[in-house]
Amino acid sequence: MQFFDPDIIKQNLHDNQFVQEIHVYQSVTSTNTLAKRLADAGAPSGTLLLAEKQTAGKGRMGREWISLEGVGLWFSLIFRPQNVGIDYRLLPLILSEEIALAIQEHTGIQAGVKWPNDILVDGKKMCGILCESSYGGPGLQYVISGIGINVNHAKSDFPEDLQGIAISLCIDSGRKHNRLNLLCAILKNLEKRFCGKSSIKNDLSHWRRLCGDLGSQIGVSVNGTKYTGIFQDISESGEMIFREKKGKVRKFVSGETTIVKMPPR
Ligand code: BTN
Repeated sequence: MQFFDPDIIKQNLHDNQFVQEIHVYQSVTSTNTLAKRLADAGAPSGTLLLAEKQTAGKGRMGREWISLEGVGLWFSLIFRPQNVGIDYRLLPLILSEEIALAIQEHTGIQAGVKWPNDILVDGKKMCGILCESSYGGPGLQYVISGIGINVNHAKSDFPEDLQGIAISLCIDSGRKHNRLNLLCAILKNLEKRFCGKSSIKNDLSHWRRLCGDLGSQIGVSVNGTKYTGIFQDISESGEMIFREKKGKVRKFVSGETTIVKMPPR
């Protein structure tokens, strides 16, 4: 099994303007927890923390994120608001879009996005993103974005209850993928997005094209209440715009979605 080496990552990133510091670990509790510690100690925007294995990987809604050694990409990025010039409420959407596009370009696999911050392949979850914000003083101090990508897992690497809903790039394509090249392709896309022209920074048009649920009848669970209706669009600040059967329009900032019916194509 090939392990990550920070010098080799640096070489492969060439002069990537987005990545400012690289920290690689063999085994950690959670790269998000460590990133928070580094950010509190003043680490810059664009700090990357990557681990071969996490012993207490964190998922959304307090769930566990299983992070086996050497088969996935488990990493966190530190973002500071003043440095990147994007609307931070859009960060999960922007990251999922850029990662899905990097996967498509790099592997040919048709990765799509699911609101608010998952990447799906063949309707199953291949990547999850956990954004954790820290406030203090005048407002938002930093956001830690933790990204987990299932790359070279075999089906049996997932616990039985996840085998029907989780997938890896290897399961989908029937071949192993080079994790270093995929990581660098993602970071290249993030450089283009965050250090490039400001006109594209908050543009969600690609995200909309990558999202298979737009226009579909879906179920959304928000704080224990389940709503059914049509996923109409995404607002400028990344909320889901949702129309219930009786016509009432709601906006959700977060939630869990399930598809009920696809629109006719
Ligand atoms: C989700 O539940 O969909 C979000 C999963 C996020 C997992 C990643 S793996 C790297 C980073 N460190 C963590 O503890 N979690 C995130």
